[in-house]
Amino acid sequence: MDKILIRGGKPLKGCVHVRGAKNAALPLMAATILAEKPCVLHNVPCLHDIFSMDKLLSHMGMKIDFTGRCMTLDPSALSNPEAPYDQVRKMRASFFVLGALLARHRRARVSLPGGCAIGARPVDIHLKGLEAMGAEIRIEDGYVVAEGALHGANFTQDFPSVGATENLLMAACLADGVTRLHNAAREPEIEDLARFLNAMGAQISGAGTDLITVVGVDRLGGAEHVVMPDRIEAGTFLAAGVATHGDVTVLNAHADHLPAFLDKLREAGAVVETKGDSIRAAARDGIDAVEVTTRPFPGFATDLQAQMMALLTCARGVSLIKETVFENRFMQAAELIRMGADITLEGNTAIVRGVERLSGAPVMASDLRASAALVIAGLMADKGATAISRVYHIDRGYERIEERLAALGADIERVRE
Ligand code: EPZ
Repeated sequence: MDKILIRGGKPLKGCVHVRGAKNAALPLMAATILAEKPCVLHNVPCLHDIFSMDKLLSHMGMKIDFTGRCMTLDPSALSNPEAPYDQVRKMRASFFVLGALLARHRRARVSLPGGCAIGARPVDIHLKGLEAMGAEIRIEDGYVVAEGALHGANFTQDFPSVGATENLLMAACLADGVTRLHNAAREPEIEDLARFLNAMGAQISGAGTDLITVVGVDRLGGAEHVVMPDRIEAGTFLAAGVATHGDVTVLNAHADHLPAFLDKLREAGAVVETKGDSIRAAARDGIDAVEVTTRPFPGFATDLQAQMMALLTCARGVSLIKETVFENRFMQAAELIRMGADITLEGNTAIVRGVERLSGAPVMASDLRASAALVIAGLMADKGATAISRVYHIDRGYERIEERLAALGADIERVRE
């Protein structure tokens, strides 16, 4: 098991290229199940979750070649509409194959993903939406078994779930008739998926708004697509730059993909400049406490909440962070406290009282974004060293993060235990 060792207190300075978005690439890969011809995805990040999805689709019969950042997926031999438990439990986004499998094969057997560190993560909205489109759904031995020909439907999501919108969008492409998804998720990853599906011949309009309309078609062809940049990775590097009193520019990132986060950085006193597809964030003279509430897009992204908490541990004043999207997404708090942070949790609100400094300590990663917060805290700590264990959580969402942070001036290394 690897560890990441950090000796903090050094300001990060320089430019870093943002990779393709994990949370776009995963549904894009699932969408190729709908295609009758090979598809090509460019700018695919080299991450454990991508390899897991590759393994799952290959298990179904998809022929995949992944070289560099280019992935070719040939669906001509797809035959097995099943996503087994040992795959889905490792990477819950595997559940996003359900809608496409059902639309293509008129049957699917996909393991229920179960919960994870940040919450119960139910899939009721996914299933209700597919039933509204005519699917017969039953739960058998921990699997969702879905059967039937799909027809268009008017469906309102109880919550603008990202995964449910993606599953239902894919299912609707080959349904017989028109589907209107109300209270749909508006995340940029949804728009990226819709662009790819339309390039394959789908008829989708309204992606990026809360009402998406899909006119079902008989078949979808192949397409080529460039995965959008990872806005959460961009935000993570920007938070690290500000938190270490540095000056970081992320290249190949779109400011309109993380508007609320950039506004909060400015409110906290950072200089934030955007030019074309680059974003620069620099500390001015320290950080002021702010109030943050996570919301579905375009609100403050829940995937940047932990990173913001790390940054605010040494702000001037008391910050309030309210997590409204997941029920247990403060796993980083206990570890930050061990590094000297002053954080009190009250239900879904974290009260973060700014302290003078953090001190390095051995800490444990618990989930992907909590581990990113621990990296930022380690970079901030100007006393002692921080050793982060269970770094496989980090590798799920960030490519070689230690190399890229070192290139910005961090004293950081990966050691094999
Ligand atoms: C996606 O997860 C992302 N994952 C998450 O990123 C992200 O945090 C989340 O969207 C919110 O933005 C991928 O795209 C692979 P949701 P998803 O369905 O689709 C409840 C990361 O760190 N809900 O929008 O699973 C659910 O319990 C990961 O990269 C239901 O109640 O998120 C949660 O409280 C973590 N019923 C809320 O909605 C449902 O049927 C948001 O979940 C579905 C969801």
